[in-house]
Amino acid sequence: MPKAPRGTFDILPQEHIYWKYVEGKATSLCQLYGYQPLSTPIFEDAQLFIKTVAGGTDIVDKEMYVFADKSGQELALRAEGTAPVCRAYIEHGLFNLPQPVKLYYIGPAFRYERPQAGRYRQHHQFGFEALGEADPALDAEVIEMARRFFDSLGLSRLSIHLNSIGCKLCRPGYLEVLRQHYSGYIDHLCPDCKARLVRNPLRLLDCKKTSCQEIAKTAPKITDYLCPECQLHFQSVQKYLGAMNIPFHLNPRLVRGLDYYTRTVFEVEPREKGGQSTLGGGGRYDDLIESLGGKPTPAVGFAAGLERIILNLKKQKTDIPALPEPDAFIAYMGEEAKIEALKIASELRKAGIAVIMATGDKSLRGQLRQANSLGIAYALILGKQELSKRSIMLRDMSSREQKIIPLAEIAKILKP
Ligand code: HAM
Repeated sequence: MPKAPRGTFDILPQEHIYWKYVEGKATSLCQLYGYQPLSTPIFEDAQLFIKTVAGGTDIVDKEMYVFADKSGQELALRAEGTAPVCRAYIEHGLFNLPQPVKLYYIGPAFRYERPQAGRYRQHHQFGFEALGEADPALDAEVIEMARRFFDSLGLSRLSIHLNSIGCKLCRPGYLEVLRQHYSGYIDHLCPDCKARLVRNPLRLLDCKKTSCQEIAKTAPKITDYLCPECQLHFQSVQKYLGAMNIPFHLNPRLVRGLDYYTRTVFEVEPREKGGQSTLGGGGRYDDLIESLGGKPTPAVGFAAGLERIILNLKKQKTDIPALPEPDAFIAYMGEEAKIEALKIASELRKAGIAVIMATGDKSLRGQLRQANSLGIAYALILGKQELSKRSIMLRDMSSREQKIIPLAEIAKILKP
């Protein structure tokens, strides 16, 4: 029997109540902050991610879905949303618009990871990106926006972790100090960290292995090695967050799993941590657009994983509003009534009333049982008698009260 591929899943109708809820909150939030939607393809030239997310990260080294198309071009399924947004920004000349350009997206991303709760091979991200502005007030606004998003969902007990990882001027000096610190512990490092020490030392700080975490605890802090400009930027972000009353934890070991970040990085975590707990993360990426061939363009953004949000909504037993139900169910007895019922259903839908029409040759009792199991409030029952009087029986499915009403009045009664 065919099954959904490992690490992917179907979203069944009863789950969509959560998805619609989160997507609705995301869209309203973006409207509130002046972000416009942007959709990019599900696959891109593989080089887009290789150049930006970069080798030395798990995403590019181990997790990308890369394939050659029939012309031999190397493509990759979208591994994350930021690089495609930057590609579109350059490709469509969005740098000619007043800056910053503010864009958001909701869509799937693909990473070949070891699946577990909260970690999938296809997951969905809601992300927003502000391109073309270096002001630290924008970093603070993006963090505030992330916070407001989770608040609007009704998720509580979350913390914002904040750090600065400097820029291309000050980071190399720090990496050298970090390498020196770790070189004293080479024999105690996990195989991945041995490779990181050579290829991507910043990621050493992010290793989840207990023995490596012990070494990270005593590592020098990047914030002690920032250049004066990065220091000032970081202080300003904190000052603006303070002004907006946004609480945050400074975490000098916070680095991100993608390599394009500069200066501000942040993550949103539930207070009760679990395996795959990070709900969202983001930061500044001032060199990314230039690395793709664009002009030097500062930018900052954030993305959250919808599956992890929904897991937390369920864990915190958040009240989710129900999706709209159909207004009525139409039942009939006999072929003649069936033809009339089809006409009535069509007319009601034209008037914007959602109806479900019985089909097949079920008995009236069977049809009403179907209406009941669909949770529909009213049934309209059409038989010979009603037909002859141009009327229909309206049944309240919960009280079981029934009354005869003229056909011409149904629409008014169902949608006053
Ligand atoms: P990221 O941290 O790699 O950042 O992913 C963002 C969020 O997507 C994560 O915090 C997590 O909630 C979710 N996520 C990531 N991988 C998986 C997975 N395998 N299964 C389930 N959920 C997952 C980015 O992708 C950056 N583009 C964020 C960003 C936007 N930075 C600046 N702008």
